[in-house]
Amino acid sequence: MAEYTFTIKRFDPVKDKEPYEKVYKVPKLASIVTILDALNYIKENIDSSLSYRHSCRMAICGSCAIRVNGKPALACITKIVHLGTDFIKLEPLAKYPVIKDLVVDLEPFFEKHKSVKPFLINKKESIFDIEPDSELKQAPEDLELYLQFAYCIKCGSCYSVCMGTPDLSKGFKEGFIGPQALAQAYRYSFDSRDEGFEDRLDTVASPEGVFRCHFAASCSAVCGKGCDPALALQLLRRAVIFGKKH
Ligand code: SF4
Ligand code: SF4
Ligand code: FES
Repeated sequence: MAEYTFTIKRFDPVKDKEPYEKVYKVPKLASIVTILDALNYIKENIDSSLSYRHSCRMAICGSCAIRVNGKPALACITKIVHLGTDFIKLEPLAKYPVIKDLVVDLEPFFEKHKSVKPFLINKKESIFDIEPDSELKQAPEDLELYLQFAYCIKCGSCYSVCMGTPDLSKGFKEGFIGPQALAQAYRYSFDSRDEGFEDRLDTVASPEGVFRCHFAASCSAVCGKGCDPALALQLLRRAVIFGKKH
């Protein structure tokens, strides 16, 4: 039977001194379409000790991002046939500590996300200060300003390929907070219902913020949700220099 050859980087910090590669042969069945299908086949039929993460299976939860033939991808929506080869190498995302096999620790990444206050900030003291007839309406053109960045599912892929972000796998945490967090700073600051641009400036305009970006746009090239974090960073940089109205 025709088959795929999967080479998977394995590492269990409890028993392995170093990561190693293990090869699995997966039959070309009609039921195996995506990388996640193949991982499930391996786990159910060949090696139950393999660890990887997934939940939604439809590019919504962001948990299945791994490296496929060297490039970050969402395992659940990456069709094997689109890779153009039967030899597939799977590795955990770069720059994150490995918990086991293909599962990385995204906690430090989420800390960076939190640092930009990724929520709508309203200066009213109480929700009751908003009159019943003054709902926070939004025109289609207001939505267009930030919509693509609202599609971010926090998969961590863009951070892992950015040349400026600290390597969390080596214990470095300080430094550039990265494309995902800053794209979200843009997403919320340019939402017409938000009043928090100045509250985010401490982080956004700091030495860890937008001015660390080299604008090579690797972040945008790997986003499986069609976000363009490199664009958001440039727009945010302009807002920091010239003010939000420009
Ligand atoms: S911007 Fe794209 S690549 Fe980056 S975390 Fe969000 S969904 Fe993932
Ligand atoms: S454009 Fe900026 S944020 Fe994106 S990968 Fe390059 S340096 Fe990182
Ligand atoms: S399983 Fe949720 S994004 Fe892939």
